[in-house]
Amino acid sequence: MVRGKVYLVGAGPGDPKLLTLKAAELLAKADIVIYDRLVGSSILKLAPKMAKKIYVGKRSGKHEVPQDKINELLVKAAGEGRTIVRLKGGDPFLFGRGGEEAEALQENNIAFELVPGVTSAIATPEYAGIPLTHRDYASAVAVVTGHRAGDAGRPVKWDKLASAVDTIVVLMGMESIEAIVKKLIEGGMDPNRPVAVVEQGTTKNQRVFIAKLDNIVDEAKKNSVKPPAVIVIGEVAQLGRKLSWFKTAR
Ligand SMILES: C[S@@+](CC[C@H](N)C(=O)[O-])C[C@H]1O[C@@H](n2cnc3c(N)ncnc32)[C@H](O)[C@@H]1O
Repeated sequence: MVRGKVYLVGAGPGDPKLLTLKAAELLAKADIVIYDRLVGSSILKLAPKMAKKIYVGKRSGKHEVPQDKINELLVKAAGEGRTIVRLKGGDPFLFGRGGEEAEALQENNIAFELVPGVTSAIATPEYAGIPLTHRDYASAVAVVTGHRAGDAGRPVKWDKLASAVDTIVVLMGMESIEAIVKKLIEGGMDPNRPVAVVEQGTTKNQRVFIAKLDNIVDEAKKNSVKPPAVIVIGEVAQLGRKLSWFKTAR
């Protein structure tokens, strides 16, 4: 049996024009596309009409397809098509579980390639005019998950982070933003530290809120901020007021 090759491809953060040329080329010849929730419909349209398209993201009110089922699906797809594109929001190796999928493919002797994508961790602050580093304000950056469950075995050390880096970028953090702020202040972070929240970054619905550590929760609540959103904690966040450049529909 001829087995197909699986491409673990980053779809970028939202603006379809941030898709890489390599991703577009692979999509154009895909037999099967397996995609997540944060992948835009205009990107999917780059795949042939005949290509089989399988959604494995969260549906409203329901849970996501469990990771082991996605892994099984990838292995099965390799027996059904020549070019399988596993399309993930942002970059596949940054909180995208791309590592686990690559391991499953490797264990089943299925050929795979990685295609990096523009990650929301960098691009959404950038679309909000926020550089993660700056010679005057930040020379160290941490990108962390704010997911409540975190990474079971590797919980984020918020108390240490509070003083270890200049800029903290939190993905999946909106649901636990209150707890995150509390832990950082307990860890010694200045409550006046600027914080930005970028909701639906790089899309026409992008909204940006800039406040201080001790009032960002109120600001987010007042404006009903919802995921997907990236939280940027650090002096660089206030540059968003000065360098804001992206015009949105809102
Ligand atoms: C499971 S992680 C996947 C991250 C992805 N692999 C990446 O590199 O961007 C999903 C989280 O990414 C962030 N995110 C993704 N797209 C976003 C966007 N357009 N605007 C703001 N945050 C976004 C949010 O924090 C969201 O909860």
